[in-house]
Amino acid sequence: MLPNYYQFYCPVKILSGQLAVSNIPFEMNLLGCKRAMIITDKGVAGAGLIEIVKSSFADSDSEIGFIFDDVPRDSSSKVANKIARLFKKEKCDCFIAVGGGSALDTAKGANIVISERSNDILKFQGADKITKDLKPLIAVPTTAGTGSEVTKVAVIYNEKTETKMSFVSDKLYPDVAVIDPKMTMTMPPMITAATGMDALTHAIEAYTCLQENPIDDVYAKTAIDLIRRYLVKATENGNDEEARMGMANAALFAGIAFSNSMVGMVHALAHALGGVCHVPHGVANAILLSWCLEYNLEKVPEQIAELSGVLGGTFENPESGDQAEEAISLVRSLLKRLNRISGLPIRLKDAKVKKNMLNKVAKAAINDGALVYNPREVTYEDALEIYKKAF
Ligand SMILES: NC(=O)c1ccc[n+]([C@@H]2O[C@H](COP(=O)([O-])OP(=O)(O)OC[C@H]3O[C@@H](n4cnc5c(N)ncnc54)[C@H](O)[C@@H]3O)[C@@H](O)[C@H]2O)c1
Ligand SMILES: [Fe+2]
Repeated sequence: MLPNYYQFYCPVKILSGQLAVSNIPFEMNLLGCKRAMIITDKGVAGAGLIEIVKSSFADSDSEIGFIFDDVPRDSSSKVANKIARLFKKEKCDCFIAVGGGSALDTAKGANIVISERSNDILKFQGADKITKDLKPLIAVPTTAGTGSEVTKVAVIYNEKTETKMSFVSDKLYPDVAVIDPKMTMTMPPMITAATGMDALTHAIEAYTCLQENPIDDVYAKTAIDLIRRYLVKATENGNDEEARMGMANAALFAGIAFSNSMVGMVHALAHALGGVCHVPHGVANAILLSWCLEYNLEKVPEQIAELSGVLGGTFENPESGDQAEEAISLVRSLLKRLNRISGLPIRLKDAKVKKNMLNKVAKAAINDGALVYNPREVTYEDALEIYKKAF
């Protein structure tokens, strides 16, 4: 059934394929920019990926003005503020973010501080707090998970409150998303598996949350279909270029879907685990997804049932409760398979979470904005119960 009202927006230019990275200087010219600041982290730089971006500037009159390669996991409000100061000092005019969600979101955060002529990112937390147009941002994802290259979202860790803050605004869409298989080939198996499960969670939450709409649904189902075909292959063999492209596109499709519909309780509970216990985002989503689907089953049985086909199910009756159960069990089987081939944790205790921290985590989860879009209300007790089941 169509919703009474919905909106859909994705203003990002997408370059996908072997030549994508080499087109970055051309895209900079189109954006009227000459001197880029690269934002990345040590892992990505150590894997040789910045060299690939640099080599595309060989015959160009545009240049890389500065490389900041010290983005921490899950980003950081302090680092975003620091980059904003460097950007001005180095007289750069655009960002090239090269990395996973941490690098991409840090660039988005620094961009807010510069463009708003502020000195503190914290003032802009929440929805639609950004009033100024941002500097051009070219996003080059090196994980296939967050979809940040096509989302209006940035998630940045607040050191003081130990929480992950969300920033949501149409101004945060990057200008260009550069999807090149060379950039994800070096991802180790466990990160491939975890970030792929993040993409699956985006697609499933986009399809089942309160703000779901028919355009998102198409993107979400296509993403799930690609993940079913390629996530195990990409985890097993990182050099499988077709699987890497399949997963990079899956993450992008899922990003477009959830950027419009938003996510739900899996992300709320995962953000809290990231903030309090530092569980990597994809790992937290992977562990929680099936438990949260079970919790939401009574509210959205048909939507969950509809996903079993794209997840590889066999039932044919879309009304069937069995089909929804099948979808959940297919998510569990995928997690088990990824655990066998990459060591991706299945339980919270295997992700270094201590049982005595669960109360604190549940308190953080019920204050997360993503819960607003979940189809079923979640109390502190409900969140705690799910963490205990997943422990
Ligand atoms: N903005 C959004 O729309 C959005 C959506 C979901 C999640 N997030 C946020 O994104 C962050 C997580 O991002 P992530 O899961 O992409 O991980 P990440 O950016 O933290 O990277 C994880 C690790 O993988 C390494 N790595 C990345 N690519 C590599 C490659 N190709 N080769 C070798 N090593 C590589 C990095 O160095 C890092 O150590 C979290 O903070 C999460 O909350 C943002
Ligand atoms: Fe996510």
